[in-house]
Amino acid sequence: MSQRLSRRDFMKTGAAAGVGLALPRDVEATAPAVIVRRSRPVVVSSRNGHVYRHDGTLTCVETVFQEMTGGTDILDSVLEGVKINELDPGDASVGYGGLPNGDGVVQLDASCMHGPRKQAGSVACLEGVRTPSFVARAVMANTDHHLLVGPDAQRFARNMGFTIEDDLNSDDSRDRWLEWRRRIDPSRWPGEEDRERIGFLSGMEMVEEGLIDAEHYWGTINCNAVNSQGEVAGCTTTSGLAWKIPGRVGDSPILGAGLYVDGEVGAAGSTGRGEANLFNLTSFLIVENMRRGMSPLDAGMEGLRRIRDNTVERRLLDEEGNPSFNVRFYVVNREGEYAGVTLRGEGEYAVCTENGPEFAPFEALL
Ligand code: GLY
Repeated sequence: MSQRLSRRDFMKTGAAAGVGLALPRDVEATAPAVIVRRSRPVVVSSRNGHVYRHDGTLTCVETVFQEMTGGTDILDSVLEGVKINELDPGDASVGYGGLPNGDGVVQLDASCMHGPRKQAGSVACLEGVRTPSFVARAVMANTDHHLLVGPDAQRFARNMGFTIEDDLNSDDSRDRWLEWRRRIDPSRWPGEEDRERIGFLSGMEMVEEGLIDAEHYWGTINCNAVNSQGEVAGCTTTSGLAWKIPGRVGDSPILGAGLYVDGEVGAAGSTGRGEANLFNLTSFLIVENMRRGMSPLDAGMEGLRRIRDNTVERRLLDEEGNPSFNVRFYVVNREGEYAGVTLRGEGEYAVCTENGPEFAPFEALL
């Protein structure tokens, strides 16, 4: 359920200060309203959380909501939801059919965190298992560790009874990879000068030509939920950056970067350029700022400002000196107040409350 705040309420909540706005008195009548979104129970996810249904009728956010309101454990509910995206080959940024690495191999990253139990598990560079989020949960539930990687993560998954497949490409993800290979210098290790043109621009060209959905280039699903008792959990799962150098690990499986949950405070998770987020451990920063009293919206915007301020390499900046890439956060506190924030541009994220699923607009920094 969302609530519009008048300018006076807006200023009172501190939201205006948090987004760096100083509204003069005489613009009171025309100042834009800020939407405070609050509902409990609530599920918040990246947009793809209300797009794909795999073989069923419900999307990720609908499934999570149904599960947790039916009494399923909060993290188990989240995983039942993200599994839909992992299994659906239409979501080319997650699980089966995710866009592969530079060698044409689908390597998956995932993390999950259980607020009430204060437990977490992750896997990185995992090949051959369609549902890396469930392997992450198995790491959490069955080991003393938080992160397993590469062939050993696969061996662990096999030992835990997961089916291992030779190849997680769909026909579509393989076609896209072949097209990318066709476009690049076969050396694949360009020097400093050519790095941007050959690697990044070949991918971006394919986005512009409609061959890849922009959301899928760094695509990921992050999903966070709060149940009626205020229990919080989250999961982030991805095939990572399309055409990445084999072995590259993004932010998604790194606790504090692609996901952070504190059961006493709330959750934050991300999609977008993982490197920016790894450098800043932004999900942790956002949750810590909520612990200090910031709203999810203010905390999310503060995280984006940190990324902007720490992005100084010229190859990562646009003509105005701002980051040329995008990063988005999905933030919720245990009271059920939530926000979606984006570094650049517009767009929307998915939410499910007692009023059903909807897309809500991001608040943008740039
Ligand atoms: N955020 C997904 C990635 O960079 O791998």
